[in-house]
Order: sequence, then C-alpha cells, then structure tokens
Amino acid sequence: MLGIKIDGNEIAQSVKDRVKKAVEELKIQGINPCLATILVGDNPASATYVRNKHKACDEVGIATKDHKFDENISQAQLNEIIENLNNDKSVHGILVQLPLPKHLDEFTTTSRISPIKDVDGLTPHNVGLLAMRKAILVACTPSGIMEMFDYHKIDLEGKNVVLINRSNLVGKPLYHLLLERNATVITCHSKTRNLKEFCQLADIIITAVGDRNRFTLTEDMIKEGAIVIDVAISKFQEKLVGDADYEQIIKKASFVTPVPGGVGPMTVAMLLKNTITSASLGSQIGI
Ligand code: GUN
Repeated sequence: MLGIKIDGNEIAQSVKDRVKKAVEELKIQGINPCLATILVGDNPASATYVRNKHKACDEVGIATKDHKFDENISQAQLNEIIENLNNDKSVHGILVQLPLPKHLDEFTTTSRISPIKDVDGLTPHNVGLLAMRKAILVACTPSGIMEMFDYHKIDLEGKNVVLINRSNLVGKPLYHLLLERNATVITCHSKTRNLKEFCQLADIIITAVGDRNRFTLTEDMIKEGAIVIDVAISKFQEKLVGDADYEQIIKKASFVTPVPGGVGPMTVAMLLKNTITSASLGSQIGI
C-alpha cells in the first residue's frame, strides 16, 4: 500500500484564497488588516521565516510592519515596543518570532501582547480559552494541522494520537484541539520510555523533534495504515528533512506529510487567518 501525500502547499492555498476574500470584505468596511512582526538578532532561519510571513501577507493583501532589532536589545526596550504596538490602532496582529536570544524571556515577552492581537495564540488568556474549549486565536502550526485533517476528511473521534512534542507552540495546543475532537491523546517527549511502543499503538503520530541525530521515525515504529504528520524541519546530510523517514513510511502509512511542503506552509496560512480574525475582533471593540 502506498499512502497519500498530504500536500501542505495545496491546502495552504485554499486557506489563503479564503483569507484573501475576507481581506477584501474587511477593506470594504474600512479595515485595513495589518500584521507587525518583531525579529530580534540574526538567526538566519528565523529571518527566512519572517520574510516568508511578510510575502504571504502581501499575497493576500494584508499590510505588514517589520521590526528588526539587534541581538542586544533589553527586555525593557522590547516590552516598550510591544506596548506601543498594542496601542497602535493601525496594527491588528503582533508576532514575536521565536526563539529569542537567551537574555530575553519568552513568557515575559509574549504574555505582554494584547490577547486580541496575539496571532500566535501564546498569551495566557488565549491558552486558557483553548484549554476551556473557547479558543479564538490558536497557535498557527496546531490549527494548520487540524485544517489538514479536515481537508482530507480524517475523522479523529476515538483515534489514538501520539504527539512527540510538548512545546507551547506545538504539542500543548494540539493536545487540546485533538481532545476537543474526541481523540485519545498521548504526549511523548524526551524523557518518555518505550516511545516505539507508544508509536506502534497510534492511529496518528504527530512528530516535532527536529534533530535527526537524536530521533528518526522509521517504518518499523508505525502500524499499517497509520497517519504521520511531520512538523519538524532541520538540515541533515545537506538536505532539509523532517523527523520521518518519508520514503519508507509512505509505503506503510495511509497519509503522510512531506518535508518541505507539508506542515510549514500551513503555519504561514493560519497566521494570515489569525490576522484577519484579530482585525475583525479589533473593529468590533473599536481598536
Ligand atoms: N518559531 C517557530 N515557529 C514559530 C511560530 O509559529 N511563531 C513564532 N512566533 N515563532 C516561531
């Protein structure tokens, strides 16, 4: 059996088409959706991600404000910049690209963002709403993965899902989103014992380790017909790869996401969707 490749570019395009229409409607109402990004330091991967986010905004008619800062910016200066963007009526969404340099605290920084401008779904307010099944703005990678399931009409009810990640941006929001759809969710991480046994029981594996020297998801770890969502992207032997041994896994799985061209484009598409959600929320309360 050869599994189906889940094409992230195709699904992302369908989200972008919907966003583009919504942007046009907002503009008719006099709202010009705008995303502000903050990039600190010179991490080349982060710079590429931010560039791609600006390009995607441009494609759908969302305006952008680009804030780049030297590695040495202080926490107080960064806090002030966020405060100014919170008060700026022309800005609807605020994204602080992560990771931040070590002297800056991610929680202190992201939790200062106004909850209605929090297009990454990282503030305590939005994380709490998600845990209570009232989410409005959800982290982009997890909501992009849910779009992929919906696009392929994959029913999650009663499915055993193994997450190999427990981060605030991926594993934890996914746990709540999947639980809401009545999946049975197990979160595995670097201290999990018998990871292979958990994986072999899974109907769906969502993996986001990102270090092939430490971990590769191989075909002997999955059951026949499993669904594999590969969130990771890293360089290994001069190639961009995910966690999964794609060529072997696709022979046994029912659906697999490729790397690149899988989850990555979905993260960007959902950021655009969150930005228009923020823009319409802001207009409702006069911000
Ligand atoms: N770094 C890696 N992924 C993300 C993301 O989704 N949002 C932000 N802000 N930073 C990231």
